[in-house]
Amino acid sequence: MSAVSPVPERTQVAIVGAGPAGLMLSHLLRLRGVDAVVLEARPRERVETRQRAGILEHGTVEALREVGADARMDAQGLPHDGFEVRFSGRGVRVDMQELTGERVMIWAQTEVTKDLIALRLVQGEPLLFDAEVLAVEDVETDAPRVRYRHDGREHVLHADVVVGADGSYGPARRAIPERLVRRFERIYPYSWLGILADVAPSSHELIYARGRTGFALASMRSPTVTRAYIQVPNGADAADWADEAIWDELSVRFALDDGSFTLARGPVTDKSVTPMRSMVTEPMRHGRLFLAGDAAHIVPPTGAKGLNLAVADVRVLAEALGEWFATKDETLIDAYSDSALRRVWRASHFSWTMTTMLHVDPDGDPFDERLALSHLHLIEASESARRALAENYRGFALGAL
Ligand code: DHB
Repeated sequence: MSAVSPVPERTQVAIVGAGPAGLMLSHLLRLRGVDAVVLEARPRERVETRQRAGILEHGTVEALREVGADARMDAQGLPHDGFEVRFSGRGVRVDMQELTGERVMIWAQTEVTKDLIALRLVQGEPLLFDAEVLAVEDVETDAPRVRYRHDGREHVLHADVVVGADGSYGPARRAIPERLVRRFERIYPYSWLGILADVAPSSHELIYARGRTGFALASMRSPTVTRAYIQVPNGADAADWADEAIWDELSVRFALDDGSFTLARGPVTDKSVTPMRSMVTEPMRHGRLFLAGDAAHIVPPTGAKGLNLAVADVRVLAEALGEWFATKDETLIDAYSDSALRRVWRASHFSWTMTTMLHVDPDGDPFDERLALSHLHLIEASESARRALAENYRGFALGAL
């Protein structure tokens, strides 16, 4: 099944991309009485199986509740009160609940996406997979349109507004002339090798470690499934890493001087490499085209902000578009880009900090290495530093930044 209901030729909001941003937006708009069509270039099964991070901020959990995609999350998600930062053979616990009064939810992005898709299908609202967008046109007029190919034929979708939620390589953002866009980018000199394994997590909370030989992260997907990552050189191929070599490396990087940590090993069921970069596009709007999620910004995975930023973007955008369709008042849609970008830059700074503080760059400047270690020492010594880390990790409320 690729489409639910026939896709109309005209809608209020044409949404390009059925990742968390596009899907969540379609639901939030529906609750505000605004029609939308979601077009996705990839097949449904591909969208539903792409491994991504798994930490939901409080605001993201709230949004899933608002749209009614919370039943499985509540039954199977794992609320976490804190996490551990490990370095130089010792660990520091960051108690988010105590420091900020909030916690986060471990619930994988793949599951969020599946629930948002299922909900849209149940509601009979237009969502089309295998629909390759060829061009987003006339966004400077009040009659923008999206040309796309589906089942070997070309179609045109007319809309009042187009939202580009099609990732950083998608076609939507190309509808903004280059001369009007500023792009900020940082490439990191390492990547992540991630695994899923059928073994109970070795720690009941996440561990972010700056090990002797590099970063490692111990996460989980359920009480019986471990998710873990290690820093690897750019260009590394997952196929070159034997399972035992990965476990050995994880073991070294999580080791505690008092010998109290043991890593549980089990069958590895998935292995993949993620490159790391930061990217921000300014502005996030041009005429009747609005960008949301990865189409406008990329964060490195450390701290798991990608999905949370995408959801925050579309919460702000849904409110703004709802207001505009209801009253034609442009105040909120005019404020969208600046408002979203304030959060994007906060998350960009946070994920850059987490990344540089916890990774080891073998060719890096020793001065930077000393600064990273000093930041870890501050987190160990100062409750204020732990609170700042916890606040950023659990995320800021809408409008708080
Ligand atoms: C996960 C990924 C992250 O980038 C992170 O910071 C925490 C958890 C994960 O996949 O579980």
